[in-house]
Amino acid sequence: MNETRMEINPYDYIEYFVGPTANIVSMDKNGRLNVMALLWKQIGELWHEPIITIAVSPSRYTFTLLTEGVREYTINIPSKKIMNSIEITGSLSGRDIDKFEKANLETIPGEKTQVPTLKDSLLSYECEIVHETESGNMAPHHLFFGRILKAYASKEILEKKN
Ligand SMILES: Cc1cc2nc3c(=O)[nH]c(=O)nc-3n(C[C@H](O)[C@H](O)[C@H](O)COP(=O)(O)O)c2cc1C
Repeated sequence: MNETRMEINPYDYIEYFVGPTANIVSMDKNGRLNVMALLWKQIGELWHEPIITIAVSPSRYTFTLLTEGVREYTINIPSKKIMNSIEITGSLSGRDIDKFEKANLETIPGEKTQVPTLKDSLLSYECEIVHETESGNMAPHHLFFGRILKAYASKEILEKKN
């Protein structure tokens, strides 16, 4: 366990999950990572499992990694310290550039997933893809359903509650 955060139950502190833009980390089959800003996400129970559902456009490099790379992702809610990373992760593509280096983002190895989480996140979730589908008429996005294998909250928000 990293000392700046603690493991939590998947639905703990979801008030910090709903609303803000997250950073999603994904990985290709050779272990190369990418990070992308992601606003469209839901958390809740499906098939008796805790699930994070995400909407990703097929035009994103992230989409290629989720479909052709490692079938896992991590969702990371940025703290103030790394909030400005969203400008980079949401406007540049991992096809062209290493966004971790550009946005000064550091990773923490996954405990249940090959894909790492991001340091300085308020909340982080390690997920494995269990289902996917088109999103229909709402937008040309693809929905990925990720079973939450492990969830973490930063000491920053844990200490606020206690
Ligand atoms: C605030 C913000 C939220 C975003 N949310 C989403 C989203 O939910 N789904 C999506 O497919 N793209 C979203 N994007 C767009 C991608 O982050 C953007 O196109 C990114 O450059 C794609 O990176 P990639 O090609 O490395 O995957 C968002 C962008 C911003 C700035």
